[in-house]
Amino acid sequence: MDHLVEIRNLKKHFGNLEVLNDIQFSINKGDVITVIGSSGSGKSTLLRCINLLEIPDAGEILIHGNDILKGDIDVNKHRARVGMVFQSFNLFNNMNVLKNCMAGQMTVLKRSKEESRARAVELLKRVGMENFMGASPAQLSGGQRQRVAIARALCMDPEILLFDEPTSALDPEMVGGVLAVMKELANTGLTMIVVTHEMGFARDVSSRVVFMDKGIILEEGAPQEFFSNPKHERTREFLARFIN
Ligand SMILES: Nc1ncnc2c1ncn2[C@@H]1O[C@H](COP(=O)(O)OP(=O)(O)O)[C@@H](O)[C@H]1O
Ligand SMILES: [Mg+2]
Repeated sequence: MDHLVEIRNLKKHFGNLEVLNDIQFSINKGDVITVIGSSGSGKSTLLRCINLLEIPDAGEILIHGNDILKGDIDVNKHRARVGMVFQSFNLFNNMNVLKNCMAGQMTVLKRSKEESRARAVELLKRVGMENFMGASPAQLSGGQRQRVAIARALCMDPEILLFDEPTSALDPEMVGGVLAVMKELANTGLTMIVVTHEMGFARDVSSRVVFMDKGIILEEGAPQEFFSNPKHERTREFLARFIN
């Protein structure tokens, strides 16, 4: 019962395709879970279910023991508590950087403008974007946009932050800055689930690595054990692609 998130028997299909086929796992406060696996294995769908961007067909998603799939849930409040950072940034293009970070605080958390601004400035500093507060997203590089997107999510004081391949759309020289911000967040104790192909991050930063294959969690473990001694042939094949 102490788990921050517990997922039980989660299933999701699109048409004839079983995308999540009986997923179970649990997350404790402060865990940094990396989720790896081939394209199409269901990683994004899993995160999207936790964020209620998809509604699962069956199963339970317990947050502090309460099933978010049952009863009336305020989706916007849920998404403040369980934040998400996307591959494609998803900033509001009609708002500058500061307003991007203030909007949700005011509408969802009902914070005053002053309080929202103060929190936004604080978190933009944290991701190294305080000099771009008046810029529009279109003026920023991909790496800068992603750091703003992370600040925006953090402004909502999430209990857990989900990252769906946050560096996959970035030019290579931008990846390091975003990973550094994520690593710092991990070190401050933020609970995170990170879908990524960055094996260095998985190995060095995460507390647990989860390998998804065809809609199931085929294997999971502490990074050192997972990478040095993968148990399944499919896991070994997948990891072999990243070793050169
Ligand atoms: N909204 C959708 N409608 C139909 N098929 C989908 C939808 N979302 C995902 N899929 C399919 O589900 C499978 C898993 O997708 P996804 O969760 O995005 O995998 P991953 O993130 O691991 O690449 C893929 O075959 C994908 O094409
Ligand atoms: Mg995906």
